[in-house]
Amino acid sequence: MSDLNEHTITDAVLARLAHTPDPRMRTVVESLVRHLHGFIRDIEPTFAEWQTAIDFLTRTGQMCDDKRQEFILLSDTLGASMLVDAINHRMPAGATETTVLGPFFVEERPELPNGADLSPGRDGERLFVRGTVSSAGGGRIAGAQIDLWHSDSDGYYDVQRHDLDAPSGRGRIRSDEEGRFWFWTTQPTPYPVPHDGPVGELLRATQRHPYRPAHLHFMIAAPGHETLVTHLFVEGDAYLDSDAVFGVKDSLVVPFKYEHPGTAPDGTPMPARWRSLTYDFGLKPLAGTAPEHRA
Ligand code: BEZ
Ligand code: FE
Repeated sequence: MSDLNEHTITDAVLARLAHTPDPRMRTVVESLVRHLHGFIRDIEPTFAEWQTAIDFLTRTGQMCDDKRQEFILLSDTLGASMLVDAINHRMPAGATETTVLGPFFVEERPELPNGADLSPGRDGERLFVRGTVSSAGGGRIAGAQIDLWHSDSDGYYDVQRHDLDAPSGRGRIRSDEEGRFWFWTTQPTPYPVPHDGPVGELLRATQRHPYRPAHLHFMIAAPGHETLVTHLFVEGDAYLDSDAVFGVKDSLVVPFKYEHPGTAPDGTPMPARWRSLTYDFGLKPLAGTAPEHRA
């Protein structure tokens, strides 16, 4: 086909894709072309605007390295990450809802026993967290691997700080024989997603703030179950309705209760006010998994 115009070019490109051998690849590229051409018809960009878009994507790529992933941040702040998450996690009753992984999970984290302090020596309100891990619609899961990470009282993750010589606000624990877990840490605080790059420019251009409401990250893995990637958000946080990455779900917003001085549930004497959080997680069984693997 030649002599193409704005009305015929989309079909010409689609025809050129008709021999793509991998059917999934064909579906994906055809849909991409249809939506991309539809987007261009919708906004009718000038050449200068199209060049601005190409520069933006180029700078987004150039900002990426082994520590910074600006494309994921772009996907997060446009709600695309949470849409992919929603499509892939249609959860059964009793399963905890999921949310974004975020860029601050790292492989290097200490294995800790139940009752450990994830943030020894750090400033911030003391927080005691406890709960259980169960199979959705089934029993408790012993030995579930629970990865934890969160921001500190200044709104930074340990990996963003240069004044720490060991992981902090981070660790891996396991549920006990009765599926229970508990640990100490400091109260997480809201923080901005990285906004010193192209994604920050886009946020400012659209009059959006970069903040995420305070949360704890959990990644919980157990045999025969989908690994759960989620957060627990602090009830009452000012940013719950405007999370920069659209990650909040009502079922994940929970009270981080103030407690009077006294004795914590694990027997720790608490001379000052402290906070407590309780949450019971449900993991989705993998399709076709025998019930004995579902606890
Ligand atoms: C986070 O919660 O750690 C996070 C998620 C998405 C983008 C930036 C940070
Ligand atoms: Fe986070």
